Amino acid sequence: MQTMVLTNNVSVPSVGFGTFRAQQGADGVFLQALFSGYRHFDTASFYENETQLGRELISSGIARKELFLTSKAWRDEMGGPQIKAALERSCQRLGCDYLDLYLIHWPKQSPTDEKWLERVLESWAALEQCYRDGTVRAIGVSNFLPHHLKPLLRSCNVRPMVNQLEFHPGYVQWPAVRFCQHYGILVEAWSPLGRGRVLQEELLGRIGKRYGKTPAQICIRFALQCGVLPLPKSCDAQRMVQNRAVFDFSLTEEEVSELLSLPQMGWSGEHPDRPREVLQPCGKQA
Ligand code: A2P
Repeated sequence: MQTMVLTNNVSVPSVGFGTFRAQQGADGVFLQALFSGYRHFDTASFYENETQLGRELISSGIARKELFLTSKAWRDEMGGPQIKAALERSCQRLGCDYLDLYLIHWPKQSPTDEKWLERVLESWAALEQCYRDGTVRAIGVSNFLPHHLKPLLRSCNVRPMVNQLEFHPGYVQWPAVRFCQHYGILVEAWSPLGRGRVLQEELLGRIGKRYGKTPAQICIRFALQCGVLPLPKSCDAQRMVQNRAVFDFSLTEEEVSELLSLPQMGWSGEHPDRPREVLQPCGKQA
């Protein structure tokens, strides 16, 4: 299995299984993902699927050390003692005694949150302790832009190893990706398919035809070639397999550049400093 390596030498399977709303698929969706070859699962307390995920992982009989499990602290689980307790709750629900990666889900509780930095720094210090005592093998953040990361980098003892961002053709947040890569922070892509909203884009179909690949596979390969770890999700067994079959071809530099240059499309409407944008059904901004 292809892996990427974090700054502390922890290896991460290069394509993870995104689980947001995946439990709305058939029972056994996570078992199906395991049968399809996924060993890296990305969940969060907010997704309310940790218990089901844990149950299905355990029922598979696959050894814990073969798996890479990520969870995240929600906005109301921030603060020193709170985040430690939240990590323990996630472990309990997942039925394991350590996590491979634990993230702060969002920097702010709300767009007008003025105390966010104090809370992030306090939470981070607690996560550093959890990292040192082995409850978690790596720690990181999610939805942090450079201006959120800079004060954290200035004051931390252990740098975040991962930052999870919305990343797909049409919304690559390139300055944030480059900033993270400069500091050795691995960027993981949430919604690497733009929740399916970008798959009709003509360029993806055109490039896909050259390689006999689907638009979804082009999105996933694109993330990998940008040094970004994709976390696609699917409730469909065939698409689960398809989304991992991305290691037998390469995009050219020109194709990557063309994909990086697409105009904005498929954005979720989520931004750490702004109220959620209401999107038109086609994915265009309101
Ligand atoms: P489904 O679960 O029916 O496969 P993202 O990972 O960007 O959040 O996108 C998830 C969405 O993309 C889901 O609606 C999922 O639907 C769809 N999807 C996942 N994989 C593929 C694929 N290979 N082809 C088309 N749609 C896909």
